[in-house]
Amino acid sequence: MCFTCGVIEVENLTKRFGGQVAVDHLSFQVQEGRVTGFLGPNGSGKSTTMRCMLGLDRHQAGATRFDGQSFGQLARPLTQVGALLDAGYVHPARTAQNHLRWLAATNGMSRTRVGEVLDMVGLHDVARRKLKGFSLGMRQRLGIASIMLGDPHTLILDEPGNGLDPEGIRWVRDVLRMFADQGRTVFVSSHLLSEMNLMADHLIVIGRGRLIDNCSVDEFVGRHATRWVRVRSPQLGRLLSALHGRVESIDTIDDSTAEVHGATTEMVGEAAARQGVVLHELAQQTGSLEDAFLKATADVVDFRAGEAPGGQPQAWNTAPAGPPSAGWMPPPPPASDGGDAPREGGW
Ligand SMILES: Nc1ncnc2c1ncn2[C@@H]1O[C@H](COP(=O)(O)OP(=O)(O)OP(=O)(O)O)[C@@H](O)[C@H]1O
Ligand SMILES: [Mg+2]
Repeated sequence: MCFTCGVIEVENLTKRFGGQVAVDHLSFQVQEGRVTGFLGPNGSGKSTTMRCMLGLDRHQAGATRFDGQSFGQLARPLTQVGALLDAGYVHPARTAQNHLRWLAATNGMSRTRVGEVLDMVGLHDVARRKLKGFSLGMRQRLGIASIMLGDPHTLILDEPGNGLDPEGIRWVRDVLRMFADQGRTVFVSSHLLSEMNLMADHLIVIGRGRLIDNCSVDEFVGRHATRWVRVRSPQLGRLLSALHGRVESIDTIDDSTAEVHGATTEMVGEAAARQGVVLHELAQQTGSLEDAFLKATADVVDFRAGEAPGGQPQAWNTAPAGPPSAGWMPPPPPASDGGDAPREGGW
């Protein structure tokens, strides 16, 4: 593994398509030894940023440096920066094995390594199958195999869980976490916020090409998610009367439990003490990463599902099934297709 490509620096990156600004003076750093999640609503510029970072799109201003060098200056890029932006970008008539072999051959790597990475991603048994017969999840696995060919220190992945089934999603999460724990730099975009919550240490959040936040997951949730106080008391009525008019709102859950918005635990606890009210529970509650993301990006969402009169989401025309869920779900190769999880110790 190359240990000279730790930090990614993106500085003042600006990319326009005609008159439309896709990435707008974007600057951030991605540190090694952690998973950095790249979040933003649809069309916010994540894929464009990644393409510009890798020299695949020509940007109008700014620069990206991998430990001081642009991607184009890297001597053996596959051994330094592994990037998976579009797993579908493979020749349909080529077999999985041959796809990896040409990558290996053009980068001075051995055929043995091809077998190793096929084992790693659980595609060994379908190595001789043509890629046109691969499911989306199988292609994602192949994509991960290809970026691991050179055992790179830095990994850049655009929605790698796209097309994977739940087992595959967990596998990608475990793999990326393990890479970061090995000291690698992992920069990954995704719309699966529950996954991101489990996987990422740090977040870069953008909207309309601009930086919204650059902080740890905990900081992001603390800054943007809804906070409220949960209180449980056998004398709830007395306590709520004392709080009335001094807090934003109160949701009564049952006879003894309420959620108080616009208050701190100190405030509720002191009000209880003044009233001589017994408390069985007093806890600060914080919303999820999804809640934080929706709040942080509320003003920069370009595409929102239509609402029918009355605020209900519009019904889809095709009954009875609902809309296909966006995100990371179709199946990876079944076990009989060689879709096993990576072997223990295989990485
Ligand atoms: N090749 C292109 N030509 C013209 N406009 C483009 C092109 N690629 C992207 N864009 C525009 O740039 C903006 C950013 O797109 P991009 O694909 O980077 O967003 P994204 O954050 O990756 O979105 P998603 O979450 O849907 O993947 C969008 O407005 C998009 O329409
Ligand atoms: Mg994208």
